Amino acid sequence: MKAHLAVIPGDGIGPEIIAEALKVLQAVARRYGHTFDYTQALAGGCAIDAVGEPLPEATVKACKASDSVLLGAVGGPKWDGLPGDKRPERALLGLRSALGLFANLRPALLYEALSDACPLKPAYTRGGLDLVIVRELIGGIYFGERGRRTGRFGEEGYDTMAYSAFEAERIGRVAFEMARKRRKKVTSVDKANVLENSRVWRAAMHKLAEAYPDVEYEDMFVDNAAMQLVRNPRQFDVLVTGNMFGDILSDEASMITGSIGMLPSASLGEGTLGMYEPIHGSAPDIAGQGKANPLATILSAAMLLRYSLGLADEAAAVEGAVQAVLEQGLRTPDIMSEGCTPVNTRQMGDAVAARI
Ligand code: IPM
Ligand code: MG
Repeated sequence: MKAHLAVIPGDGIGPEIIAEALKVLQAVARRYGHTFDYTQALAGGCAIDAVGEPLPEATVKACKASDSVLLGAVGGPKWDGLPGDKRPERALLGLRSALGLFANLRPALLYEALSDACPLKPAYTRGGLDLVIVRELIGGIYFGERGRRTGRFGEEGYDTMAYSAFEAERIGRVAFEMARKRRKKVTSVDKANVLENSRVWRAAMHKLAEAYPDVEYEDMFVDNAAMQLVRNPRQFDVLVTGNMFGDILSDEASMITGSIGMLPSASLGEGTLGMYEPIHGSAPDIAGQGKANPLATILSAAMLLRYSLGLADEAAAVEGAVQAVLEQGLRTPDIMSEGCTPVNTRQMGDAVAARI
């Protein structure tokens, strides 16, 4: 197959980890006889520096014209002082929204070989851990009306959180369909004891659950979900939740898998065009030092192969290669443990590519 990918390295460790993911994609192309070509596009802080805005129109165009998008990370202290709508993060939110990517899949998988890097006692994760967070990505409080106004204590900032039954059902369907291919359980996370938008969300989920009698369904308040994730993470199969709750819970879930450097994500819309990125940020403190773990980005590329290009065998080959290098004992600093072999970003990418 021929596929045309838009590649957005971004800021901080973004370029380093993207280089390793492209190395692995090229190994897949060679081994399976595909042709992947790439258009590099600017977004985030580097775009602010080059053209004065975080998300140039040319980048949105390049992404829309591609079969799929692979993104590293954006942001850094250099741009922290900018007003909200000029910050690098706007590029991410803007791209997700411009491409209609409402469904963000964040699988949290604890590899047997990494059980030492997991901060929970082995008793809590014995038998492995495999859950997916399905996060609504282009609605909720990250996209609601916001501003400054004069309140009781002077100037205040405000952000509004809104969800329609349509948006809840649209993301809910993704979760139920995913659960059908897994252990058939959906947990919808909300705050319906306090928030009105959560009540609309919950009612929509209940209605949808009736159409999936083969899938076990439960509601959970977000504060309880945060606690349950460390108390008994194995109870979860698919968690579906809104934009902000999903943002927070997916960082928590990632740590259970040993390192935030391990978690990939896929952002999907109605068609096959998706955007694939690690869930971690640009880690400016370690940028350029070869310390970054490229595995989350490499696993994101595997998700791209599976969900956007329909190449399930190739995706499994990448995931298998990652598992193999972990079993071989190769470790970047974030997942290092006694008796393992320390490697840098490039060596990790080379090792995965060599196993394709
Ligand atoms: C993530 C990140 C982004 C988000 C930020 C950088 C805008 O935290 O992908 O989880 O909040 O979605
Ligand atoms: Mg986040």
